[in-house]
Amino acid sequence: MKLNIAVLPGDGIGPEIMTQALNVTKAVSDKFGHELTYKEAVVGACAIDATGNPYPEETHELCMNSDAVLFGAIGDPKYDNDPNAKVRPEQGLLNMRKKLGLYGNIRPVMTFPSLIHKSPLRSDLVEGADFVCIRELTGGMYFGRPQGRSEDGNTAYDTCVYTRDEIERVLHLAYKFAGQRRKKLTVVDKANVIATSRLWRQIAQEIAPQYPDIETDFLFVDNAAMRIIQWPKSFDVMVTENMFGDILTDEASVITGSMGLLPSASIGLHTSLFEPIHGSYPQAAGKDIANPLAMILSAALMFEYSFNLNEEGAMIREAVNASLEAGIVTEDIADGGKIYKLSEVGEWITEYIKNK
Ligand code: IPM
Ligand code: MN
Repeated sequence: MKLNIAVLPGDGIGPEIMTQALNVTKAVSDKFGHELTYKEAVVGACAIDATGNPYPEETHELCMNSDAVLFGAIGDPKYDNDPNAKVRPEQGLLNMRKKLGLYGNIRPVMTFPSLIHKSPLRSDLVEGADFVCIRELTGGMYFGRPQGRSEDGNTAYDTCVYTRDEIERVLHLAYKFAGQRRKKLTVVDKANVIATSRLWRQIAQEIAPQYPDIETDFLFVDNAAMRIIQWPKSFDVMVTENMFGDILTDEASVITGSMGLLPSASIGLHTSLFEPIHGSYPQAAGKDIANPLAMILSAALMFEYSFNLNEEGAMIREAVNASLEAGIVTEDIADGGKIYKLSEVGEWITEYIKNK
C-alpha cells in the first residue's frame, strides 16, 4: 500500500515520542512492503511561536490531503496560568478536531499483565479489564456558544449544545464498536439534570431497537465515575458527550497502571487522527525520559482503523508487549528495576520488529 501520513509532533515530549513512533512505523511498513510518505507540520504552542496561529491553514491542508494524521501532544505551561492569553495551544487541538470533523474519539482502556501491580486498584479488580470509551469530540461545552465573560468580568458562561445529528452519528459509531466486541453499550449522561443529556438518552432509546443483539444500558456520569473504579470489568463500550468523556477517560486510564500507555483514535468526516491520550508533559521535554508506548500504540491503531492492516497493528502490539515483559521500560513503570530512556525503549521495539 502507498500511504501519506501527516506528522504533527506538537509540543513538549511530542517530538521525542513521535521520532520513536515513526521508526516503529517504518520498520513495520518495510516488513510488509508498504510505502509510507511522511510530511511534518506544526500545531499547538510551536505553531503559535512560528505563525501566530495554533492550527495554521497549511497544517490543515496537509491533514486533509493525507491518509492519516499522527499527532503527538499539545500544551505549554507558559499559557496555562495566563487567563488573558489571546491564543492558546489547546485552541489548535480544538480547531483541528472541528475542521477535520473528528466527532468520535475512541479510547481503548486495556491492561497489560506485567503492569497490573502498578494500578492504584486491587489487581483482582483490574485484571482483564478491557473496555472502550467513545467520547463525542466536536460538540458540547467545548464548542457551544456563547462562551465568555460579562463586561464587568465577574460573570462567566459556557453553553452546552448538541443536535440530533451529532448525537446519532456518534451513537451509531458506538454501536458498531459494541457489535464487534462483547455487545454491550453503556450510554453515560446526566439526564436527571441536563437538557442535552435528556436528548442523548431519548435518541439512544430510539436507536437501540436497530441493534437488537446489543444490550444498551444507561448510567449517570457520577455513577459511571464510581463504577469505573469499583467494577471496571463491567464495561464493554461506553459512549458519552465531550466533557464527560474527557474526565472519565483520564480516570479510566490510570486504573491500567500508567497513563503513558494508552493510545487513541479520532475518526469522523475526513482524515482520521491518532494520538496518545496523555499530554505534552513539559517537565520531561527534551530529557529522553517520557514513555513512548502510547504514541507507538497510536501508530498501531492507525494501521488497524485507517488502513485495515490488522497484522501490522498486531505486530506493533506484540513488540510493545515484548518490551514490557523484557523490562525495557521508562521510569514511570520501572518499579525499582533498570530505567531505560525513551529512545532506548523505542529502539528496542523497532529492532524487535526488524528481527521478526
Ligand atoms: C484531551 C485533552 C484536551 C481535551 C485538552 C488538551 C484541550 O485533555 O485530549 O483529553 O480536553 O480534550
Ligand atoms: Mn483530557
